[in-house]
Amino acid sequence: IQADALEEIRQSNDLKELQDIKVKYLGKKGSLTGVLKGMGKLSKEERPVVGEIANKVREAITQEFDQKSDALEQVALNEQLEKEALDVTLPGRPVQVGGPHLLTKIVEEIEDLFIGMGFEVREGPEVETDYYNFEALNLPKGHPARDMQDTFYITNELLLRTHTSPVQARTMRQYDGDQSVKMICPGKVYRRDTDDATHSHQFTQIEGLYVDKNVRMSDLKGILDKFAKSMFGHDRKIRLRPSFFPFTEPSVEMDISCKVCNGEGCSVCKKTGWIEILGAGMVHPRVLEMAGYDSEQYTGFAFGMGPERIAMLKYGIDDIRNFYTNDKRFLSQYHHAK
Ligand code: PHE
Repeated sequence: IQADALEEIRQSNDLKELQDIKVKYLGKKGSLTGVLKGMGKLSKEERPVVGEIANKVREAITQEFDQKSDALEQVALNEQLEKEALDVTLPGRPVQVGGPHLLTKIVEEIEDLFIGMGFEVREGPEVETDYYNFEALNLPKGHPARDMQDTFYITNELLLRTHTSPVQARTMRQYDGDQSVKMICPGKVYRRDTDDATHSHQFTQIEGLYVDKNVRMSDLKGILDKFAKSMFGHDRKIRLRPSFFPFTEPSVEMDISCKVCNGEGCSVCKKTGWIEILGAGMVHPRVLEMAGYDSEQYTGFAFGMGPERIAMLKYGIDDIRNFYTNDKRFLSQYHHAK
């Protein structure tokens, strides 16, 4: 029995088959079990001898079985490991990580700067009334300066705001005419322009307004100078040129110097060395009055700038449409820009 069993176990190559062999010899109806069962019929003298032999045979078979079973399990495990192995040397699939839009970053940078100077951040509606977009800003119906901003009208009285200046009037109204106002307002604005490299029917503006007793033009200049230097570098200068807006008097346009120097020397971005950045001025007394402020007691300044334009100058972007066409090759360049 032992010789047969050991031989069968050695030949076996399969765990299931191995189990069957064990049952065949050691199971309830197995041949060795049969021998043990038949022991009762043996004589007193034979019993211990046969018993001892039978036990040895069982031990031998069990040992051989355990060894073979371990070996087969190991083989099975190795096969499984090989099948499920990962090739860690294969190149990975890169995970595409998004980032804030360049325009979002610029707006947030400008917000942070003005928050640091005590301005609060406000918002206003993009669908605006004719009153706030124009009339409250000293642009009555039929005023020729309305043509400066080609307008998308929705009805006679409703339109898509052409600038963020209506938020000046809305904010002052909320302050009841006896408090200082210091706010900026970023937001989308709309104009009936044909889109090209420098025009877009929808773009972004950031409005600024500071109204208090004794606000002067020099306050405006100081804040704009700080803004220009922190956005473009401390070597930049600003200059204010006279201009016209119906809601400011006097009105100015601000240029920054655009001399760019590197290791090879200095170049100038425009022949004049100056480039226009934003419009500003002292809030027109009539605008203060319409919003409920006493223009004898209160004065203020306002400015409006286009973050796209600022980003274009800062990063040398030559087409405003890049901001809106969502080409990842363009946008991803600026995820880590400062
Ligand atoms: N609203 C003006 C524009 O869109 C900019 C501006 C704002 C000018 C505030 C003066 C004061 O052109």
